Amino acid sequence: MQYIVIKCGGSVCDALSDSFFQQVVDLQQSGLWRPVIVHGGGPSISALLKAFNITSSFVNGLRVTTREVLDTAEMVLSGKINKQVVRRLKQAGGKAIGLSGVDGDLLGAEPVSGHEKLGFVGQIKQINTHLLHTLMEQGYIPVISPIGVDQDGQHYNINADMAAAAVAGALQATLCFVSDIPGIYVEEGESRRVLKTATNRQLEQLIDDHVITGGMVPKVKAAISALAYQVPEVVILCGKDEQALAAFCQGEAVGTKIVMEGAAIHG
Ligand SMILES: Nc1ncnc2c1ncn2[C@@H]1O[C@H](COP(=O)(O)OP(=O)(O)OP(=O)(O)O)[C@@H](O)[C@H]1O
Ligand SMILES: [Mg+2]
Repeated sequence: MQYIVIKCGGSVCDALSDSFFQQVVDLQQSGLWRPVIVHGGGPSISALLKAFNITSSFVNGLRVTTREVLDTAEMVLSGKINKQVVRRLKQAGGKAIGLSGVDGDLLGAEPVSGHEKLGFVGQIKQINTHLLHTLMEQGYIPVISPIGVDQDGQHYNINADMAAAAVAGALQATLCFVSDIPGIYVEEGESRRVLKTATNRQLEQLIDDHVITGGMVPKVKAAISALAYQVPEVVILCGKDEQALAAFCQGEAVGTKIVMEGAAIHG
């Protein structure tokens, strides 16, 4: 039995088919996998901010989070999207339970480095894995909204990719980023192709070269941090590809697999 953290991008959540959620439920019911979902919500947060006439900006793919932005992000993530994911897993015949990082102190947080520019953006300090294990033992698929809380009760907006990486690290889980692209693109002349495998060093170079930009920056940084926590495997795949998740879990090469350079040599 292997834990798998599936990070569902807000970019793709609405486009995920019933068959995607069926795959998650099937993985769990096979008894071979214990899935945990962490979801994002970027586009829905942007839409509600716009409706509220609140302006927001990004620094290196992270949303600058004022108190108003935090409240809006929490409404969207822990209210709307979290419950949508729970409902869709239930429709697929699964038992799902939605939690934000605030519930049961699931995601203990602190301000992220650089918070002077970013506001209430947090990073995870500790995870209540006991709560996750208890729920999974009862047959639940935990669905986590990436809002964290510190010891004083302050809430933080946590990039969902980073939250997923930290949860995967804590569970020593396989980590699967489900997004709206088939993997990491690199330019080749006029066309672009998807990398089948990418090492941490290659990715750092691609960030420096501005080939990787926007939301892909925190995603690859999170992927690398998960590998530093020694999770067994990290992949980025496309949620619109109907069978990609199941294929990945059967050991097929899909999307972009991220590996630590020299990992085989240095253990
Ligand atoms: N080299 C690259 N290859 C692939 N995608 C890239 C690259 N550079 C930038 N991107 C962008 O990164 C986006 C994916 O990150 P994004 O944060 O938007 O989605 P997500 O993490 O799935 O959703 P959310 O942040 O809402 O959870 C892609 O849609 C693409 O526009
Ligand atoms: Mg993102």
